Amino acid sequence: MARRKYVVGNWKMNGLSDAISEAQAIFSAATGHQSVDVALCPPFTLISAMVAAAPGAAVGGQDCHSATSGAFTGSVAAPMLADIGAGVVIVGHSERREGFSESDADVQAKAEAGLAAGLSVILCCGEPREVRESGGAIDFVLAQIAGSVPASFDPHQLAIAYEPIWAIGTGLVPTVADVAAMHGAIRGALAARFGDVADDMRLLYGGSVNGENAAELLDAGDVDGALVGGASLTAAKFVPIIAAADALG
Ligand code: PGA
Repeated sequence: MARRKYVVGNWKMNGLSDAISEAQAIFSAATGHQSVDVALCPPFTLISAMVAAAPGAAVGGQDCHSATSGAFTGSVAAPMLADIGAGVVIVGHSERREGFSESDADVQAKAEAGLAAGLSVILCCGEPREVRESGGAIDFVLAQIAGSVPASFDPHQLAIAYEPIWAIGTGLVPTVADVAAMHGAIRGALAARFGDVADDMRLLYGGSVNGENAAELLDAGDVDGALVGGASLTAAKFVPIIAAADALG
């Protein structure tokens, strides 16, 4: 089963109104790359403007609450994202798991909320450096998957992003062999639990992806795309990654 490549930009807490023109440049360039799906996840504050500036483009949030509404000061619910035209939500990023103490159960509930709101969900996992160095990375990540992937879902609506924490924003990347081994283990665990639907799920790699390393990483076994932080903030840096994915699509 052929899986279309998927390249997602996570702007994190970056971008004021003037960054919308950069998103327009990215989405406009992406129309020339038909074999890859492209999404941008800006801060909540920019979603509406980005949706308006790039009609039809896939725009998303970087988090959502698991409840649909209520007394949760500062939080945003998945139906609110859908309501303003977002089509995507990232859940379980390590900066949420670590910085905001989100557990696997929290991430699972957020993923379920995103799916229920009709959003395309990108669920993140990944090990810290000391776990990688001790040889326990695959076990660690498979435990995250077991605890945070919802019990049922449409495989076209849920992607997994493997992002080793030590590779995020550091310029360090795992070897292609290590990425392929991890992605193969993730797909194997999903197949053992969910059967054939695992073949349809896209597994993204994230962590210091850039225009130079994208082609090699995106060509690794069971890698169906990339979740990109720093290099997604400008068209100059992000479009080469989109082009690399398109060339493999
Ligand atoms: P990075 O971030 O590309 O800046 O390493 C990736 C991410 O955190 O999604």
